[in-house]
Amino acid sequence: MSEVSGVSEVSGVSEVSGVRRAVCPGSFDPVTNGHLDVIERASRLYDELVVAVMVNDKKQGMFGLAERIELITVATAGCGNVVVDSFAGLLVDYCRDQQIGTVLKGIRATSDFDYELQMAQMNRELAGVETVFLPTNPEHSYLSSSLVKEVARFGGDVSRFVPAHVQVRLSERVAARGD
Ligand code: PNS
Repeated sequence: MSEVSGVSEVSGVSEVSGVRRAVCPGSFDPVTNGHLDVIERASRLYDELVVAVMVNDKKQGMFGLAERIELITVATAGCGNVVVDSFAGLLVDYCRDQQIGTVLKGIRATSDFDYELQMAQMNRELAGVETVFLPTNPEHSYLSSSLVKEVARFGGDVSRFVPAHVQVRLSERVAARGD
């Protein structure tokens, strides 16, 4: 940790091990091929990439926390340096606890950028945590978990948008909910 303009800063490289780590946070309800593209590419840039699922008690998603974690864990099993975790509260507090100095975010379009920039600047102001933006592969730029869930709810084919095990789980959930 170092001190920049009075803000206690989390370094990007662990002083103990010299390991370069980043955290890729999100709701992942559920993980899509767009997320996975960003996660796989980011995992090649760091020694360890932590995919952190936000715990949101106020917003009930389609999948619970344990299931989101499981779906990401299965999808990233081929990436040896990806760790899946969860966090509640402020992302910067999780970064401090885990000694991670970099947040990694995928950017799909300029519409993402405005809010992401605000969050990046807030996180830097709060704790000196830096944000790295990775442009999404244009192939996935229109993809979002919300749209995938909507398509699945109305019986559309989501096989191009999510891994097979996520597609199965989506179909089961839609059938169980009957909506
Ligand atoms: O997948 P999402 O829903 O776009 O992810 C948003 C997420 C979880 C990255 C963002 O909401 C977040 O970091 N939430 C944690 C609470 C927090 O730190 N809020 C202040 C952000 S400046």
